[in-house]
Amino acid sequence: MRAESRVELWYLTTDVVLDPALLARCEAVLAPDERVRGEAFVFPIHRHEHLVTRALARGVLARHVGASPRALAFRRTEHGRPELVPPHVLRFNLTNTVHLVACAVSAEGAEIGVDAEPLARADDVLAVAETVFTLRERAELARATEEARRRQAVGLWTAKEAYMKARGLGLSLEPASFEILGGRVQPDERPWKLVARELEGHVVTVCVGTAADVRLEIRVADLEDLLA
Ligand SMILES: CC(C)(COP(=O)(O)OP(=O)(O)OC[C@H]1O[C@@H](n2cnc3c(N)ncnc32)[C@H](O)[C@@H]1OP(=O)(O)O)[C@@H](O)C(=O)NCCC(=O)NCCS
Repeated sequence: MRAESRVELWYLTTDVVLDPALLARCEAVLAPDERVRGEAFVFPIHRHEHLVTRALARGVLARHVGASPRALAFRRTEHGRPELVPPHVLRFNLTNTVHLVACAVSAEGAEIGVDAEPLARADDVLAVAETVFTLRERAELARATEEARRRQAVGLWTAKEAYMKARGLGLSLEPASFEILGGRVQPDERPWKLVARELEGHVVTVCVGTAADVRLEIRVADLEDLLA
């Protein structure tokens, strides 16, 4: 039997979290520093996105850790990645857009990164292709038809970001310093798996540090249930 690496991808659209009672429940699980961070957003839409992200992470991780969502504590690495305190074997990563929030979890402790971008941002991605994609990546995109190229560009960008996040480096890793060709990260000696899905008009890509096949379990998050 081939080894499998099981990854949960939890997501929800932010528009399902509008009920005042549910919003209050989300607020109630936040730590003081998370509240301060949320209040610093100028636009309510970003405050909301931040709140839903924190609530999702707490709800999902609490299940794995066996604690209440409110009891979880986090720190951020020097590059900004949140991690559980005290350290836990599971690895997780978060991504958020105004409309969609997701949390990827490897309970087995494989390094993990996730990124989501709306397909509607294809033109924005193509506009910065020369800066973020390598020559060979751009040549691969150029071979596609126009419609396919738009999808592929968003897919490639989310794959690169997911890898940058799985490495824990984020944008401190220059996007054009490595390339993803035929689904493989180069140059990198270590095995990485990339799995992409289209969800709610977004491309969501998960990058997992494993040689095994990835079994991606997609779960639509119900915050009422996760925070109960
Ligand atoms: C991480 C980064 C690539 C995210 O890009 P993005 O497409 O704008 O945003 P996404 O929604 O996909 O991801 C954001 C989430 O990634 C996570 N994240 C942040 N830095 C990360 C890193 N270095 N590695 C992995 N994940 C990271 C966080 O959970 C963040 O959401 P949160 O801040 O609400 O918790 C980019 O913002 C970055 O590199 N930022 C650098 C931040 C930094 O250097 N901070 C240092 C001081 S804290």
